[in-house]
Amino acid sequence: MSAAAGKIPHHIAIVMDGNGRWATKRFLPRVAGHKKGVDSLRACVRHCGDIGVKVLTVFAFSSENWNRPAEEVSGLMELLVMALAREVPQLQSEGVRIHFIGERAGLSEKVRAGLAQAEANTAHNTRLTFNICFNYGGRWDIAQAAAKLAARGEPITEQSLNGAMALAHVPDPDLLIRTGGEMRISNFVMWQAAYSELYFSDKLWPEFDAAAIDAAIADFGKRERRFGRTSAQVTSPAESSARRKKAA
Ligand code: IPE
Ligand code: IPE
Ligand code: MG
Repeated sequence: MSAAAGKIPHHIAIVMDGNGRWATKRFLPRVAGHKKGVDSLRACVRHCGDIGVKVLTVFAFSSENWNRPAEEVSGLMELLVMALAREVPQLQSEGVRIHFIGERAGLSEKVRAGLAQAEANTAHNTRLTFNICFNYGGRWDIAQAAAKLAARGEPITEQSLNGAMALAHVPDPDLLIRTGGEMRISNFVMWQAAYSELYFSDKLWPEFDAAAIDAAIADFGKRERRFGRTSAQVTSPAESSARRKKAA
């Protein structure tokens, strides 16, 4: 069954994990896995746009990934700049709007320029919002939002914090996917995933194709999202509110 037939999440967030293992299994350098991961991401963006997902947020480089060998870190930086230069014209024609989410200050001038250019070139697109989390950490986002409010002398509430987050321009993810078999968040969308449906796949990111996305979406379609309510309230809201009135 094609996922398009089922319920399509408005916002999908993905921890794209397993590039290194994909490469190592093939006796290739880890960066080769990241390159293959870019191809996988490219196909994922296209598929999400085609099936009507409105927001795609991907974890491409975490605040903690600086701890990797220097050669891998510089490889990832180069890959980002190259991939943006190569793909933005086509993304542009597919109606994809790119947002960079993360701490820009820690990045080189070249990377910052690449990101700014990609954002500017796609700023008028509306078909799919594509958030690239790069030099990003969920805790960083919460802390920078709190610092922003404190600097403005604004009260800190759930609502004001939410509005000051780097991801404030989109609703929370409906579906959070992690590939590569690990079952952890690794400092991704910590605040925004409060009510996301979680989906873990053993497939390594370079192997995560359109059919795998459809499988995740089909699984999502079977979930009952209760947001604290009872199942009865979710399945027949009119009936249970009538019952509530009667009881009152
Ligand atoms: C995820 O793949 C991509 C990044 C963290 C940049 P990994 O590089 O973490 O792949 P594994 O987990 O080592 O296989
Ligand atoms: C999370 O993957 C970060 C990205 C996918 C960019 P990691 O591979 O860095 O996560 P840990 O360190 O195994 O938790
Ligand atoms: Mg990993």
